[in-house]
Amino acid sequence: MATKKEKEEKTLELTDLPGIGPAVAAKLEGAGILDLMSLAVSSPATIADAAGVSAAVARKAIQAARSMLDIGFSDGLEFSKKRENVHYITTGCESLNNLLGGRGIESRAITEAFGAFGSGKTQLGLSLAVNAQLPKEKGGAEGKAVFIDTEGTFRPARIKQFAEGIGADPESVLKNILVARAFNSDHQMLLLEKIGEMVKAGEPIKLLIIDSLTAHFRAEYSGRGQLADRQQKLNRYMHDLMKLAETHNLAVYVTNQVMANPAQMFGDPTTAIGGNIVGHASTYRLYLRRGKQGSRVAKLIDSPNLPDDECVYWVTTEGLRDKA
Ligand code: GTP
Ligand code: MG
Repeated sequence: MATKKEKEEKTLELTDLPGIGPAVAAKLEGAGILDLMSLAVSSPATIADAAGVSAAVARKAIQAARSMLDIGFSDGLEFSKKRENVHYITTGCESLNNLLGGRGIESRAITEAFGAFGSGKTQLGLSLAVNAQLPKEKGGAEGKAVFIDTEGTFRPARIKQFAEGIGADPESVLKNILVARAFNSDHQMLLLEKIGEMVKAGEPIKLLIIDSLTAHFRAEYSGRGQLADRQQKLNRYMHDLMKLAETHNLAVYVTNQVMANPAQMFGDPTTAIGGNIVGHASTYRLYLRRGKQGSRVAKLIDSPNLPDDECVYWVTTEGLRDKA
């Protein structure tokens, strides 16, 4: 019999369940039931409806999913063991690290930065790609970074400057960043599978950056009637991202654009693209904006374990810093 650990490592699919073939699985996915967990917590009537199967088949599939997932409680010790291998990647700047709980961005979690053009989302992504390579005692993860570039904003010259900022050899730092240009949202989704394969093949990837998360989705599903489709696809993508972060203990950093929200008359009239779908799926959300005298302001929003707070920092030639 497979041990619990082995079971966790083999990702179970809907089609591993009795009575669920590819066609039924596709129907379930269409209804937003993307994995064993969402099926396990659904009612037989919901599943029967969504998949066009009998209630008996639905019940059997739900029961199988529940036993395969070992649904139940894990004690606090077990839970904390699972979190023991969580690692952090420094942003290069103490105030921003502190805002995020002290050590920068966290593995097994998605950190989202949203903000206007030029607010520094890409700069943070590029510096994380460099800092991920630092030794652990200097705030790194001693690993490689993957940069999924949807807008053509990856800048090797900027990476070199950041590398010099941490006293590392620019060429080797560049070599440890695996860059892929995503040409459309389908391509962007497909690239996630590649990352899983690379990790399995032994690449020491510790950080995944997606800059920008939403640009393709926004451009491709811009019509009025397409919002539901876009949200469903984004939902799937966020779900796949979280799964990748959990399975391979990756830190995930995504950037998100904002749109003007004319309905808001007070405060900052901007809203992140993807709305609740992206917001709820992100573990940490940072709102970035320009501050006074060339400074930058980051605001942490709706974190599960940290207070909503703001901090000031600077984007300098060598990296993100506490002072200009
Ligand atoms: P969009 O992708 O257009 O939505 O913007 P963004 O939020 O990704 O902005 P980005 O991270 O590209 O920030 C651009 C800003 O970073 C510039 O306006 C500069 O203020 C700053 N910046 C970029 N390169 C350098 C540099 O070499 N030195 C310094 N000091 N600042 C830089
Ligand atoms: Mg950018």
